[in-house]
Amino acid sequence: MMNLAILGFGTVGSGVAKVLAENAAEVAAGAGEEVRLKYIVDVRDFPDSPFAPLLVKDFAVVENDPEVGLVVETIGGCGVALTFTRRALQAGKHVVTSNKQLVAEHGVELLALAKEKGVNYFFEASVGGGIPLLRPLFNDLSANKILAMKGIVNGTTNYILTAMEQSGKELDEALKEAQALGYAEQNPDSDLDGTDAVRKACILADLAWGRELKPEKVPAEGIRGVALQDIRNAASTEGAIKLLCRLIRQEDGTVYAWVAPHFVPKTSMLAHVDSAFNAVVITGSAVGDVLFYGTGAGSIPTASAVVGDVVDAVRHKHAPRGIGWTDAPLTLGDPDTLPARWYIRSGDSWSITEAMPAGMLPQAQVRYRVLD
Ligand code: HSE
Repeated sequence: MMNLAILGFGTVGSGVAKVLAENAAEVAAGAGEEVRLKYIVDVRDFPDSPFAPLLVKDFAVVENDPEVGLVVETIGGCGVALTFTRRALQAGKHVVTSNKQLVAEHGVELLALAKEKGVNYFFEASVGGGIPLLRPLFNDLSANKILAMKGIVNGTTNYILTAMEQSGKELDEALKEAQALGYAEQNPDSDLDGTDAVRKACILADLAWGRELKPEKVPAEGIRGVALQDIRNAASTEGAIKLLCRLIRQEDGTVYAWVAPHFVPKTSMLAHVDSAFNAVVITGSAVGDVLFYGTGAGSIPTASAVVGDVVDAVRHKHAPRGIGWTDAPLTLGDPDTLPARWYIRSGDSWSITEAMPAGMLPQAQVRYRVLD
């Protein structure tokens, strides 16, 4: 039997507890042994929760309990989450996380520590929520050179853009709905400004190319500047405005990475990805384009990916998987030098340009690349 602890009883942590309880038989069958939730660590009290008897406030209880072989970190951020992850790995416990900021910023260190200690550090839920994405990228596409990845990786902003398009809602109202549904970050600025999407893009790049892409190196434009007018203009010509992460690797190894709103023609499947759904297209040299689509945020879908990692970690508890990347940086190019067609608008006047690099664009209030 594997005993585990959940750190952080928020949106994702409570979903993990629920999925472990409701699908205990499936989890045990997959893992090859019973998986028992022994503790939940949180500084808050949850007297009405059915899991209240498992709650403890001190992480040291988990750290010092030799029966606990696996820790699920769903605290988020790089504060105590980083400290507790280091301590759990040091104590020889497998760690599973949904924390994209931690993986994007400290993945090199934590994966190296996991390797040294002979344990697994898994993070499938960190990109694409419930979509099986990172494991297929790492395992099933490993025969390919990864040429490009593009996608919608933030459920909150996609929910907002969809609500603006379909119901004419303003951004603030749609954001409140997304928050109520448990999609948004604690501080939604990282959703709205594209920071969350940048972190996810970095994890995709790290895994695909084996070198570290630091979040601060990725130019990001969020959705605060997207007006209803832009969304209606796009819809009038069979298009949609979508916040995309883009990663392109040229033959010489140069990587172009950015996050920005795009004008996406309806001929692209990405234009039809609505609400909190996410989708990522990975282009491999052998396979061509592969589309991963599903629920990208929310308690139970994200818990699906976390608990899937738990099962895999237990299954591989004696032979940890050697996932990792080096801190050697990727060679980066400036995305503004890549020619693209652009949607440009000033006042009520808008058009789609010929393909050109950003530097050649005429002055415009709004400029979004067209996804060709
Ligand atoms: N705030 C994130 C999103 C949660 O909206 O996609 C899932 O990573």
